[in-house]
Formats: sequence, C-alpha cells, structure tokens
Amino acid sequence: MSELSVDHLLGIKYLNEADVQLIFETADHFKEVINRPIKKVPSLRDITIANLFFENSTRTKLSFELAEKRLSADVINFSAAQSSVKKGETLIDTVNNILSMKVDMVVMRHPNPGAGVFLSKHIKASIVNAGDGAHEHPTQALLDSYSIREKLGDVAGKNVVIVGDILHSRVALSNIFALKLQGANVKVCGPMTLIPKYIDSLGVEVETNLRKALEWCDVANMLRVQNERMDISYFPSTREYTQQFGVNKTLLDSLDKEIVIMHPGPINRGVEITSDVADSKQAIILNQVENGVAIRMAVIYLLASKIKN
Ligand code: CP
Repeated sequence: MSELSVDHLLGIKYLNEADVQLIFETADHFKEVINRPIKKVPSLRDITIANLFFENSTRTKLSFELAEKRLSADVINFSAAQSSVKKGETLIDTVNNILSMKVDMVVMRHPNPGAGVFLSKHIKASIVNAGDGAHEHPTQALLDSYSIREKLGDVAGKNVVIVGDILHSRVALSNIFALKLQGANVKVCGPMTLIPKYIDSLGVEVETNLRKALEWCDVANMLRVQNERMDISYFPSTREYTQQFGVNKTLLDSLDKEIVIMHPGPINRGVEITSDVADSKQAIILNQVENGVAIRMAVIYLLASKIKN
C-alpha cells in the first residue's frame, strides 16, 4: 500500500511528487465522503489530535477541526490567546503538557518560521504545519493545487501567477514549491519591494506589470498585503497598490481569455480584488475552502496511518 515519504507535514519542500499525488487521490475519496448524507468515516477513532493555534485563523482552524471530526478522531483545541503562554510558558512546555494527555498528532499554527520543524525534533507526535510565520503553509498550497486540478484537469503545464505580497507570504512559498513540483509554470507579480531577493533561486519569473501577468496566465492567485508582518512602508499608499496590483472586473473582462481567480483568504475586498471579481464565476475561492476539508482529511489520514504502522 502507498504511504507518504514523511512522518510530518512540515512544508511542501519535504514532499516529493508521489506524495502530492497520493494526497490528491486520497482527497478525491474524502471529497466523495463529505458530499454524502452521512459525512463521516470511523477511520481515526483511536487517534487524538491537538490543534494548537498561536496565531489567528478562521479557515485553517475550522477546516482542520472539521476534517478531524469527519475522520472520527478525538480533538482538543488550544488557542494561545486564552492560554498560559500569556504567563510565560515556553512552546516545548506547552506542547509537552498537551502530549501528556496522550495526543498522537499536533496541528500547529505559529508566528515563528520553523516552529513545526523545531517541535518535530523534540516531541514524538506527528506534526502538521498549519502556517509558520512567513515560511510555509503546506495544506493551503495542496488545496490550491487540488482546486486547479479540479478546475483545469491538471496542474502540469499550466501558467500560474501569484500576485501581491510575496515577501511576507507563506502561501506564496508553499504554492511555488507545490506548483513547480507538479510541472506548472510560475510567475510572481507585485511591487519589487514585496518580491524576495532570492526569488530567482526558486525557478520563478518576476512580472511587475499586472496586465501582462494576467494575459500570460491560466490562473491568478491573488494574495493579501500582510500589514501585520510589516514594520515599514513597502509602497506609497493602499490606493496606489490597488491601482497597480488590484484585479477589477474591467481588467478581467478586457483579457482575451477567461482566467481562473484564486484567493487563500482572508480577502481585503477593494484592495487586491474587487467584490465583483471575488464573487464572479471565474473565482473559485469557495471551492478552495471546500477542498481544504478533503485535503486536510487526506493529510491527517495518511500521517495517522504511519503512526498506526
Ligand atoms: N488561508 C488561511 O490560512 O486563512 P486563515 O488565516 O483564516 O486560516
């Protein structure tokens, strides 16, 4: 039987192409399950999962919890804002206390890049990175590629542009790794101040003209400007950013083909994307959210299979 090459999901950079295909095939099965009248399977009745969120989340937190419950796992939720972290407890102490309660898997979002890797070296449970600072967000990239595969039939050979704040985005880095692994052509588009200096080393081209980027692509993944990770100004004003890098319906309709619009959320309507684009039939934003549950079920199921073996 096929299994993942890894014991943790710390980042897309640790996966190979066979891992991605196995996750997608497993997600296909779970997508069928969650569209049944009874949306639940008993697969993980003997597994306990702790969701540790040291940073805010809406989609990822709800999606992981739902995925775990659909697999019949026991679930405990931890939010740093209401915890003893506020009293000075370290990450290792927090997690060791939780693991003493016989937890098998930890899903963790943390503001520090590498927090998941650090944890995997110190504790026995299987770790799933639910976003570590500006580093990686592997399940987001998997659900994004899965949604492209669902919409366009394949990821290989497709032209994908990631638009916006590439510098502070874990979604951008994980998407670049995932898309390149599957043979897509990838460009990034945004102000040069928000493009990392090392971008060439990722095999990605930079296009600073949004119209040209959209004319080239099959899919545009629109990212939010991550103001919470900025301590200086990277562009003159939000109005100017929107004029140069925001997608509106007039621009979209002026292209000579129908491109697919994606967004990982949360959306800043009227900044990186207008409401009429976000709500248009070209946007697959809510399909991404729906696919997130199936992808996370697949990841958890496959990692839990390795714990059981
Ligand atoms: N896409 C995403 O990670 O959203 P949340 O921050 O709401 O989890």
